[in-house]
Amino acid sequence: MSDAQAQLGVDQLAALWEEAVPGERLPEEVLRERLLEDPDCDLSLWLAARHGGRLVGAAVGVVRPDPAGGKPAGYVQFLAVAPAFRRQKVASRLLDELERRLVSKGVRAIRAFDSAPSYLWPGIDVQFTPALCLFERRGYALRSYEFNMKVDLTRPLAAPPEKERREALERAGIAVRRLRPEDEASLGDWMLRTWGPHWAYEVGVALRRQPPAGFAAVQDGQWIGFAVYDSGRPGWFGPMGVEPRWQGTGLGIELCVRCFEDMAQRGYTEAQIAWAGPRCFYARKLGASISRVFARVEKVVDVADEEQRGGRPA
Ligand SMILES: CC(C)(COP(=O)(O)OP(=O)(O)OC[C@H]1O[C@@H](n2cnc3c(N)ncnc32)[C@H](O)[C@@H]1OP(=O)(O)O)[C@@H](O)C(=O)NCCC(=O)NCCS
Repeated sequence: MSDAQAQLGVDQLAALWEEAVPGERLPEEVLRERLLEDPDCDLSLWLAARHGGRLVGAAVGVVRPDPAGGKPAGYVQFLAVAPAFRRQKVASRLLDELERRLVSKGVRAIRAFDSAPSYLWPGIDVQFTPALCLFERRGYALRSYEFNMKVDLTRPLAAPPEKERREALERAGIAVRRLRPEDEASLGDWMLRTWGPHWAYEVGVALRRQPPAGFAAVQDGQWIGFAVYDSGRPGWFGPMGVEPRWQGTGLGIELCVRCFEDMAQRGYTEAQIAWAGPRCFYARKLGASISRVFARVEKVVDVADEEQRGGRPA
């Protein structure tokens, strides 16, 4: 265990979060997996604010390499201040130092929380007003809004009847089955080629759950679709995808339904579709509705580079 970790453990982060935001569960095991086991985890970016030895605030950052070979991006992955210590510039001082360290590691921009593939939120939850104001005040600009959607698992799913769904897939020669540990190599290879490294990472996490938390579709011996849950957070669904050629066959609905049924069997009362992409698909075909809205924000710190690009966004 390094010094930084010894000074700030995930157990302390979990306790701080529980005090800071009692409405959202963020247990130690989630923080360990999302932050400490992040392949880019850098303990020199784990910062603590203490008062009389007590942890009153913390910020965690990470640097992600640019897949295109450019300068990396920096992310704030976690930030919380204990309620009794708010509005005393604790977060400001933590972020001053974290941004300074990120810049010293050569990042060209700093973003808040959307540190895919290992992230806690797809951005700043817009209901966290203080956090939104804090980042705005520090010069972070809005890039986009992202959404989580929810599906009530205590009620019958708003999907076509099972017989209809399965007959259509049988006619197309498509088999849907639960992921198996031995799928890791070939599925991982297909995921990387077809869907990129972020989703490949998230599917890998779900595949290693016991039992694997997801389903895949095979046609003529080839992977053509997948859906997973419990990858990012317990009860969070996604990612999921169907190869373009097979879209419109009902396969996407079947993959979602299989996951939602599995989640209900494991005792979940709700599925949170994380960072939902095709929102109308989830709403119309599965009765999902928007549950959380996140602002993705960014501060460009590499001014020279930005000027050279004529101010165009990256
Ligand atoms: C967001 C949070 C970390 C801010 O911590 P803090 O130590 O109180 O923040 P600071 O004192 O450094 O505030 C700096 C600036 O942020 C803005 N700000 C902070 N809290 C605010 C509030 N309640 N309303 C409006 N603006 C606020 C202000 O501009 C403030 O400057 P000012 O006090 O001079 O007006 C804290 O409220 C918190 O822990 N919230 C819950 C966790 C959270 O939302 N984390 C982000 C996860 S998405």
